[in-house]
Amino acid sequence: MIYENLCEELEAMSSGVSYAVSVLSNAAALLYERLPNLNWAGFYLYRDGKLILGPFSGKVACTEIPMGAGVCGTAAERRETLLVPDVHAFSGHIACDSASNSEIVIPLFVRGDLYGVLDLDSPHFRRFTEEDRRGLEHFSSALGQILAPLPFV
Ligand code: SME
Repeated sequence: MIYENLCEELEAMSSGVSYAVSVLSNAAALLYERLPNLNWAGFYLYRDGKLILGPFSGKVACTEIPMGAGVCGTAAERRETLLVPDVHAFSGHIACDSASNSEIVIPLFVRGDLYGVLDLDSPHFRRFTEEDRRGLEHFSSALGQILAPLPFV
């Protein structure tokens, strides 16, 4: 239910917005504000064969992640969602904020191509459920459609 509302809000807040960077910035802020128990919500964007830090809410984070590295790079390389109940048990996890204990990373596609990933971190172990996975995949898919016609800036 919360994800249905979030998708509706995303559509409403993105209507008439001309640039992808603005849509992504508000999408990160929306998720961070509305989903409980997060300490980071944002995007890494796929550019030049690697992931670069995009719009986010939360603490300062690492600016580049190679494909295949960490939770983000692994999800991006596999083009599939990674739900990690305990980041300390994920070999290669990149600890940007030592408060993070669980994480979910969802690929973001625009016109069928990898555009980046949506990354959510939580200080709680096992914060993310299958419902979150479904809801966030739907959110990411709605976002991909909104971004399709927009230049980045
Ligand atoms: N933990 C991520 C790095 C990004 S931060 O969480 C914001 C990873 O392992 O890819």
